[in-house]
Amino acid sequence: MSRLSIAIDGPAGAGKSTVARQVAGRLGLTYVDTGAMYRAITWKALKEQVDLRDEQTVSRLARETEIRLTPGKDGMEVWVDGERVTRAIRTPEVTSHVSLIAGQQRVREVLVDKQREMASRGGVVMDGRDIGTHVLPDADVKVFLTASIEERAKRRYRELVRRGYKVDWEELKEEIRIRDEKDRNREHSPLRPAEDAVHLDTTGLSIEEVIRAILDLSRSKV
Ligand code: C5P
Repeated sequence: MSRLSIAIDGPAGAGKSTVARQVAGRLGLTYVDTGAMYRAITWKALKEQVDLRDEQTVSRLARETEIRLTPGKDGMEVWVDGERVTRAIRTPEVTSHVSLIAGQQRVREVLVDKQREMASRGGVVMDGRDIGTHVLPDADVKVFLTASIEERAKRRYRELVRRGYKVDWEELKEEIRIRDEKDRNREHSPLRPAEDAVHLDTTGLSIEEVIRAILDLSRSKV
């Protein structure tokens, strides 16, 4: 099963990363969180105070940046040019700017090349917004995870509070709604299910139930 490639797409807070990480662990595959890569570039662009709308500058920065994803004790670690940014890329500031960066075609080209390189030998579970439609159109298993906005906001709220952030519930819901809208309506590789993706609405399902559903789909492919 080690050469299998699994694409998991869906909107913010649908549970993609939790589920993808565990599916990868159980099948002995490598987990690639592509959202972390867009966040990493956003973090660096903010740090270097470049004009985030300047596509040429941001795409050059993306090309010159070394992003590494490594397994960590408590999930995945993210490294930018050798610096650990696992927590830094999840701040509200990065979250509120990431869709602007992710909407730029030249930035996407740079990151999609890196993602395809990571998946070139197979054996990956990759999550994001355009994996089944664009990055890995030939993935063995394609899943589109959704959940109601209330449910997704609830999950994000708990996660942020757990990490020590003070969060306003209404603001959080609005932030998720706006980010989804931007991701769905952008010109390049918008968030949408691949035609051959299996849709899984995770509202009311436990993490374990979602994992099992994806493992069943994966087993049918070997
Ligand atoms: O998955 P996560 O919420 O961390 O992704 C952050 C942002 O990165 C998304 O809102 C989206 O704008 C962008 N993204 C993307 N394509 C991907 C993964 C993430 O555009 N494959």
